[in-house]
Amino acid sequence: MRRPLALLAAGTLAALALAALPQTPSRAQDGETEKAIERYRQMLKDDPWSNPGLLDADRGEALWSRRRGPQNVSLEACDLGRGPGQVEGAFAELPRYFADADQVMDLETRLLWCMEKLQGFNRSDLLKRPHPAGGQPVKELGAIATWVASKSGGAKFAAPLGHPKEKDAVALGQALFERRSGPFDFSCTTCHAEPGKRIRLQGLPHLANPDEARKVIGEWPAYRVSSTHVMTMQHRLYDCYWQMRMPELEFGSEVSVALVAYLVNKAAGGEITAPAIKR
Ligand code: HEC
Repeated sequence: MRRPLALLAAGTLAALALAALPQTPSRAQDGETEKAIERYRQMLKDDPWSNPGLLDADRGEALWSRRRGPQNVSLEACDLGRGPGQVEGAFAELPRYFADADQVMDLETRLLWCMEKLQGFNRSDLLKRPHPAGGQPVKELGAIATWVASKSGGAKFAAPLGHPKEKDAVALGQALFERRSGPFDFSCTTCHAEPGKRIRLQGLPHLANPDEARKVIGEWPAYRVSSTHVMTMQHRLYDCYWQMRMPELEFGSEVSVALVAYLVNKAAGGEITAPAIKR
């Protein structure tokens, strides 16, 4: 007695489920979704003072001038490329070649260097967990990076290319951007080299196109609403490498700096608006 009833019930449920299945969205519905997302993004941007990333920038400013680490000194002697302690406009000219390190560094890699060489922090401790988990605030280095980047607000990206190692970094970055690898055989171009691409509801900027690169690269470090913390560029790239199932992208590695150098080069002339708000 019970079985046929159960079967009947299951059949009814299946029929109901089928009826309830949404139809494949039409192009018009797709357009509506895009518009709604755009409205949501605009609401996030409408009141810039509501951006929680500004609190991290303030935290970063305090950390920059506080005596810390085994050497008990501040970062005020840190040279970000414009001379020791010169923060204003420094981010707009990074990555660049630093003679003392004999390498090209982006902002975060340079801060790592200063925290190690000036303040005496242990490099491997700083590298252990460089990025925050979801819901956790950005780490100290990231907060300092957020503040430093904000001090180039309104400036345009103009990373120098005069040194051969600066040119090499951009070329390596481009090769890495275009090279397919990893278990999925993805390259950055798989997701970021065509206009109008999207994964789920997230637009995938066409980063190889200077117009689009100029729009988004200057927004980082950015407050990311969906993970409720500031995400730095090193963290963003770490996550994209993870999405590609590549080996973990090491913070401050040559590969990470080369990718940043390539992106900033594409975004040359783009305005810095960090910390911006991302979805
Ligand atoms: C599997 C697809 C995929 C691949 C491959 C990929 N990304 Fe991404 N990328 C994403 C997604 C998804 C986002 C975030 C979209 C969001 O959160 O709104 C993103 C965001 C970004 C952003 C921030 C863009 C913005 O809107 O500000 C940058 C920069 C970036 N990726 C660089 C890279 C680089 C460099 C590589 C190669 C090392 C790469 N991505 C590979 C999917 C990918």
